[in-house]
Amino acid sequence: MKLLDMLQRGLLSLVLGAALAVPALASDTPPDADAQLVQAVMAAQAAEVAGEAPAAPGELDPMWSAVKDGEVGTTNSHSRFHNNLINTYDPTLIQARAGWLSQVLALALFGMIVIFALFVLVNGAAKLEKGYSGVDVLRWPKVDILVHWLMAIPCILLILTGLSLMAGRFVFGSFLGPDGVAALAAIAKPIHDYMAIPFAIFAVIAMLRWMKHNFPAAYDLKWFMVVGGYLNFGPFKGKHPDSGFSNAGEKLWFWSFTIFGLAIIGSGIVMLFPEQVEPSRNASLLAIYIHGISAIVLTGFTVVHIFMATVLSEGGFPAMVSGYVDENWAKQHHNVWYDEIKADGSIQYKER
Ligand code: HEM
Repeated sequence: MKLLDMLQRGLLSLVLGAALAVPALASDTPPDADAQLVQAVMAAQAAEVAGEAPAAPGELDPMWSAVKDGEVGTTNSHSRFHNNLINTYDPTLIQARAGWLSQVLALALFGMIVIFALFVLVNGAAKLEKGYSGVDVLRWPKVDILVHWLMAIPCILLILTGLSLMAGRFVFGSFLGPDGVAALAAIAKPIHDYMAIPFAIFAVIAMLRWMKHNFPAAYDLKWFMVVGGYLNFGPFKGKHPDSGFSNAGEKLWFWSFTIFGLAIIGSGIVMLFPEQVEPSRNASLLAIYIHGISAIVLTGFTVVHIFMATVLSEGGFPAMVSGYVDENWAKQHHNVWYDEIKADGSIQYKER
C-alpha cells in the first residue's frame, strides 16, 4: 500500500477511535482525496469481512511499522514534532506505568498509612516530658499558617485524585469495575487539574519563605542517630537531641518537598499545557515518569508528616492552627531555636 493511502487509513482510524489523545494528522491530500479515503475505508472493511487477519495484538499495523522504519511522507500539521508520528521508545516503559509505577504509588499512600499506624500503636506518642506549661510561644506567623493550608489542602486532594488517575484502572479496576473507574476518573480529573494551580503557587511561596529554617547544622546527624528522640524504647527512650527551628527530620521533609515538589510542578505544567509547551513524544513520557516518581516520594513523606504533626508529637499540631506552641514543647523539641529567641529577646508570648 502506498504511504499516502496508509496515512489516510491511519487518519480515519484515529478519528474513529477518538478516545486516544494522539495529535491529529492529515495527509497532504490531492483533490480526489475524499474519494480515495472512502475507497481505503471500504477496502479495509472488505478485507475484514473476507477474514484477512489484522495485525496481531502486540504487533504494529504495517503502516505504523513502515513509519517506524523511517518511511517518509507529509502532513499538514504545523506542530513542532509533526514529523514524529509515533513514539519509538521502549513499549515496556508504557507497561511499567500501568505496573510498578501505579502499584508503588498506591503503596506509598496505603502502605505508609498502615506502617505508620502500626508504629504509633506499638511505640505510642512522643509525650511532653514535663507536661504542658500553660505558657504559649509564637512559632509561625499568620501568613505562614495561611500559606501552609492553601498548599496542604490542594496537596491532599492532588494525592487522592492523582492516585485515582494513575492507578485507578490498574489498582482498583478489579473491584470498582469499568464504570466505577470511569466515574472516579471523571470526578478526579477536573479536581486534579484545578487544584494543581493553588498547590503550585503556594508550594513555591512556602519553599521560598521556609528555606531559611532548613539549612543543615552540625547537630542534625545526632538527631538522626537517635531518631529524633521519638522512639519510646531501648537506648532511644527519653533522648532529646539538639534541634534548631526545624529538626533534622523536618529538614529532610522540607528538601524532599522542595526538590520533588518542583519536579512535580514542572512535569505537571508540561502535561497541563501541552499546546503551549509542545513536548516531544519522549519528553511527554519523561514528564509522566517524573510526575509519578515525585508523587510517590511526596505521598510517602506527606503521610509521615501528617502522622508526626497530629498523633506522634504531643503539642505540635497547634503550631499550624494558632501559630503558638507550648513553651515546654519548644524546649523539648527545638531547644537551640528556643535558646536563641530567648537570648536575643525576640521570643513572643501569647497574651492571656
Ligand atoms: C492534615 C494535614 C497536615 C497537618 C496536620 C500538618 C501540620 C503541620 C504542622 C503542625 C507543621 C509545623 C511543624 C513545626 O512547627 O515544627 C507543619 C509544617 C509543614 N508542613 Fe504540614 N501539615 C499537613 C499537611 C501538609 C502537606 C500536605 C504538606 C505538603 C504539601 C505539608 C507541608 C509542610 C511543610 C513543608 C512544613 C514546614 C516544615 C519546616 O520547614 O519546618 N503539610 N505542618
